[in-house]
Amino acid sequence: MFKLLTCFFVFWVGSNADQYTNPIALKAPDPWMVYYNGYYYLVATTWTNDIGIRKASTLSGLKDVENTVVHTIDGRVMWAPEIHLIDGRWYLFYCACAADTEGNSCHRNHVAQSASDDPMGPYTFMADFVDDTNDVEELDPSYIIINDQQYLLGSYMGSTQNLYIRPMANPYTPTGPKYFLSAPTYDWERQTWNVNEGPEPLYHDGRIFVVYSASACSTANYKLGLLEFIGTDPLNSTHWQKNPEPVFQRSDENHVYGPGHNGFFNSPDGTEDWIIYHANSEESQGCDMGRSSRAQKFIWGDDGLPVFGVPEAADVSYEGPSGE
Ligand SMILES: *[C@@H]1O[C@H](CO)[C@@H](O)[C@H](O)[C@H]1NC(C)=O
Repeated sequence: MFKLLTCFFVFWVGSNADQYTNPIALKAPDPWMVYYNGYYYLVATTWTNDIGIRKASTLSGLKDVENTVVHTIDGRVMWAPEIHLIDGRWYLFYCACAADTEGNSCHRNHVAQSASDDPMGPYTFMADFVDDTNDVEELDPSYIIINDQQYLLGSYMGSTQNLYIRPMANPYTPTGPKYFLSAPTYDWERQTWNVNEGPEPLYHDGRIFVVYSASACSTANYKLGLLEFIGTDPLNSTHWQKNPEPVFQRSDENHVYGPGHNGFFNSPDGTEDWIIYHANSEESQGCDMGRSSRAQKFIWGDDGLPVFGVPEAADVSYEGPSGE
């Protein structure tokens, strides 16, 4: 009887997912998504002072829903929002400029806190992450937990655009300055612009990775690279190892250009790993609100590294996440 039930369950789970096509959302650059209590929650850059969430019970359903405003910031040009559930509340990390500024070098990272465990908020502003020891443009905040210690991740302007990691007591209280994590060193990270940005934590089988975006977001050569934590001190960049090759990049055959600035989410039944990223369908579409969100399943190689494959073609039907 137990065996029968197991078979039935596996069959039911595997065959029940909705079909979906990429892109899953238009005008949605720098996407980040989570599946939580029956719904997908997708946040993306708006380039305004509003932060919105698209909420749907299926991947294919995200295309038709409103981008509901969950928080309006006292600032401008909001980029790269993410929500993380930490100690029972959602924290909305984003970068933006102060309201009275011009241009983009005024970007700094910020966080707001939800009133409860509802990802739709309401959110209350909590902190500006200004690093007084090195106050430069900062962008693309994310959050990683290593050995029970919390860290802010981000990108900053040095002589090149680099990644940083910053120790935190909680999601709104840094306990020190930012530490250098990674710089664009390989040729494939230095196409048109020298860039490492959009760091994203990825945990698997006791190993800890940061997937990041490299080269110029305004070109078809924007892509993903991989760092792995191989030491004991996350604040020491020599304890991280960079994969010599990119892990996800353009597919001219599939007409997907500049895939990058990603997030990760699990299928509703928790059995599958999925990546969400933005890309363009034409080579010269640039780095603005025209970029669309796309999602696809990925697997793990025998060496324990993620295998993202190639970006899937637009308008082709694929099976949705398991358990939908
Ligand atoms: C970083 O790690 C390396 C290798 O373990 C060590 O030699 C170096 O002293 C460390 N640097 C700092 C600032 O702790």
